[in-house]
Amino acid sequence: EVDAKVRELLGKMSIEEKVGQMTQINLNVVLKGGYNNMDGTIDPEALRKALVDYKVGSLLNAINHAYSVEKWHQIITAIQDVATKQTPNKIPVLYGIDAIHGVTFTSNSTLFPQNIGIGATRNVELSRLAGEITAKETRASGIRWNFAPVLDVGRQPLWPRFPETYGEDVYLVTQLGVASIIGMEGTDKNLNRVDRVASCMKHYIGYSLPLSGKDRTPSYIPERVLREYFLPPFTAAVKAGSSTIMINSSEINGVPVHASKYLLTDVLRGELGFKGLAVSDWEDVIRLHTKHKIAQTPKEAVKLAVNAGIDMSMVPHDYSFFEYLVELVKEGAVSQARIDEAVGRILALKFRTGLFINAYPEKDATKNFGLAEYKTAALEAARESITLLKNNDNILPLAKGKKVLVTGPAAKSITALNGSWSYTWQGNEAKYYPDTTAYIFNAIKAKNTGGTTLYAKGSEFDKEADAKKAVELAKSVDYVVVCIGEDAYAESPGVIDELDLPEAQQKLVASLYEAGKPVVIVLVEGRPRIIRKIEGGAKGIINAYIPGSQGHNAIAEVLFGDVNPSGKLPFSYPRFSGDIIPYDHKYSDRVTELAPGQMGENGYKPQWPFGYGLSYTKFEYSNLKVSSPTLKGNGSIKVTVDVKNAGSKAGKEAVELYTRDHFASITPSWERLRKFKKISLAPGQTQTVEFELNKSDLAFVGMDDKTFITEPGAFDVIIGGQKASFNYED
Ligand code: IFM
Repeated sequence: EVDAKVRELLGKMSIEEKVGQMTQINLNVVLKGGYNNMDGTIDPEALRKALVDYKVGSLLNAINHAYSVEKWHQIITAIQDVATKQTPNKIPVLYGIDAIHGVTFTSNSTLFPQNIGIGATRNVELSRLAGEITAKETRASGIRWNFAPVLDVGRQPLWPRFPETYGEDVYLVTQLGVASIIGMEGTDKNLNRVDRVASCMKHYIGYSLPLSGKDRTPSYIPERVLREYFLPPFTAAVKAGSSTIMINSSEINGVPVHASKYLLTDVLRGELGFKGLAVSDWEDVIRLHTKHKIAQTPKEAVKLAVNAGIDMSMVPHDYSFFEYLVELVKEGAVSQARIDEAVGRILALKFRTGLFINAYPEKDATKNFGLAEYKTAALEAARESITLLKNNDNILPLAKGKKVLVTGPAAKSITALNGSWSYTWQGNEAKYYPDTTAYIFNAIKAKNTGGTTLYAKGSEFDKEADAKKAVELAKSVDYVVVCIGEDAYAESPGVIDELDLPEAQQKLVASLYEAGKPVVIVLVEGRPRIIRKIEGGAKGIINAYIPGSQGHNAIAEVLFGDVNPSGKLPFSYPRFSGDIIPYDHKYSDRVTELAPGQMGENGYKPQWPFGYGLSYTKFEYSNLKVSSPTLKGNGSIKVTVDVKNAGSKAGKEAVELYTRDHFASITPSWERLRKFKKISLAPGQTQTVEFELNKSDLAFVGMDDKTFITEPGAFDVIIGGQKASFNYED
């Protein structure tokens, strides 16, 4: 039905109208005062020029991300008024936005932990729920297209978008990413509902492994690795029905992805069967000329990108894309068929999202904004993400009613707790938050009933502050809680040259140890910042990642034991900057020749491995069994294990199944995460957890660099330190 409507509309449209649909501009272009406009006042003449003269089909972004719902409604209404009343075919505008960890552009919205924290929860349902709530609040704001989720696999912790990933493991990213898409689009893919938005898989593909660690810089990824470690989340997301895809800004092996017909058309369309809309990233079409230097002119850049498979260009500030593309079509350098294909996909999404029925903000959607239950969900996600990394002498949970010093730059930072894409792009302006005092310090003080809670800043994130005062106070208390890590950052402004925690913060922690009181470190960071030198002196360490608007409460609950931590590291926490090795490394990554002829296990030595995370209770694993010693052909085997809560506190545990391939034609990994399940156990309770494995769970990309194969041979299955073996037979 949609196809017929699209065909009919295409039949009525001029070339200019079609190319206009493929053009996406930023909101500032139609605001009075452009980027300086913080109150969202539309410039009617600029809007008319965009939509009527240049026939623009899509807008994006917020200038001030803390507009109210009403302000968004005014903006969208003004835009749709022109689009649906003053343009020849009355085609509504498709508005796109970055709701990266919840709605980050409307005040009083719900902010979840950044994806790296969701990765630590190992909770697929929480990821789905976060997607659902995000969709509801986005649609309530009058917007129907979300540029999320990030499906990049985080294997380069220097990369400033590492916090936006679900972690270093491809299976984990796939499971949580797909769940988020289902949360936004549902399983029926009915986007004409007031609680749904179109999702956007991004950034296709290979963005997350820049050799230098800097944002938007080249990756060098062999085809086999690309297909085994970076493509599967997109393959699964296409299958799950994600409606749109955004393209990687950078280049792989010398080919910018925006100009790769192979990746954008042959693989994405031909192999994955993706039927939705492919949007460029910011300015990336023109950058084929200005930055990547593969196009001699801006016009050639447009030709390369559109012919490679870009359907919509996030231009975003001028009409050059429009002008060049109209010329290119008239000259025959871009075919009418290619234009119809791209515009057809854009119009289809406009039909699917109900824009042709009602392009305006929907009354029924508004009631889905800001419900109390969303806060509970964000709190639960933050709780489940927090990862207990060290607990010497059971220093944690802290006893309430004692004297506690809370110090460190994250102790009173709302921006660090929420990170990027939070009311501003960089997320670094505290004034936009509804509660500017939602600090870790305040939450600890509120929980420490009957006790005394002191504060000293101790240090800035990047420079020394009043460490002396902090050390002085530390001498007088029972516990010191030092909150360290990173302030908010996004994309290139978040580039760093070293992974070590900044010197000033390390100095603060080291000097606190001199006070002789038990020190607990709270890490608030999106990337694993190296803390080898200060780790030893801490009694307890928790990683809170970037926990979102309820993060302060979740941290305090964990510190005082109201919540039993259950997060597991979604990455290998490096000990040394020269030891950035993922957990699923090769056997030869572990075995180093220490001296001629002397082999030692000296390769992978992280501070804490992927999957690490302690609890206030004790989980015991036993009885690991495989249902058959042989997995045959297309059959399956069952793997069961008993998990017992052998401690005295109720707790949640992420049960993780890894496999180890003994020999293979392509060097096998030391181990690979194949399944996980999060369970809850009361003290003394035992649960038998069951998983099913089939041959696709053991597959890798073979010698042809393309096809997933499973080779016969011996495998180990490893769960919670237990090991069993089985054979795969063709
Ligand atoms: O969606 C984002 C993308 O992730 C990075 N560049 C800008 C886009 C739109 O804001």
